[in-house]
Amino acid sequence: VAAGPKKIVIAGAPASGKGTQCELIVDKYGLEHISAGDLLRAAVAAGTDLGVRAKEFMDRGDLVPDEVVVGMVVEALDTDKAKSAGWLLDGYPRSASQADAITKEGIIPDSVILLDVPDDILVERVVGRRMDPETGKIYHLKFNPPPADVAARCTQRSDDTEEKAMNRLKVHHSNVEAVVGKYEGKINEIDGNRSKADVFADICGVIDEM
Ligand code: AP5
Repeated sequence: VAAGPKKIVIAGAPASGKGTQCELIVDKYGLEHISAGDLLRAAVAAGTDLGVRAKEFMDRGDLVPDEVVVGMVVEALDTDKAKSAGWLLDGYPRSASQADAITKEGIIPDSVILLDVPDDILVERVVGRRMDPETGKIYHLKFNPPPADVAARCTQRSDDTEEKAMNRLKVHHSNVEAVVGKYEGKINEIDGNRSKADVFADICGVIDEM
């Protein structure tokens, strides 16, 4: 099997563990990690035109329009590291039109990892999530508490309320089949309702077989 750059999409509902697993994948495989949500949050924080447009959609938990997000992702994938080591695209595509847009640019994953977690668990994960703004590390008040010296500076995302999470979940459920349909034969569904380490072991199994 030719060992070339690995091209991976990681998908799943809000709080299914995409970001958590991406941290581990990047550590082990050295891929370029592109998170659509992180790119959008950075644009919002920087107050760019695109960020200003994105904010109202993100605040509601709706998908940001394609004309805001597609260009951002395509540009972020255009790095030497992505070309040589490969890439891990997190939270994109989230609709058929987003999948078509990258296909047109020749951006085609070899594998799509789809994390599967029941809805009631997802809501608990969302409301307990905290992030360390200095390292970007993701924690959970109950499942993965931040260390004592980090806890005080941890922040909560503004869309991590139960109400917004319910809308984000609804949006996910209404779009996921369309995305899956675009990558027939490449979907690797993984039970994400297990320990972080168990989920990661399965993901490594998929990546090592690529
Ligand atoms: P985005 O930032 O992508 O959010 P999301 O998809 O809702 O996903 P999350 O970041 O909430 O969760 P995750 O799966 O990364 O879980 P995590 O590892 O943190 O998008 C935000 C918004 O941006 C969208 O609503 C939309 O508006 C916009 N957007 C983004 N992409 C877009 C696109 N392509 N098009 C249009 N708009 C777009 O884990 C969650 C919690 O669970 C953590 O606390 C973690 O510690 C805990 N946890 C993780 N794994 C486990 C485990 N195995 N056991 C127990 N706890 C665990």
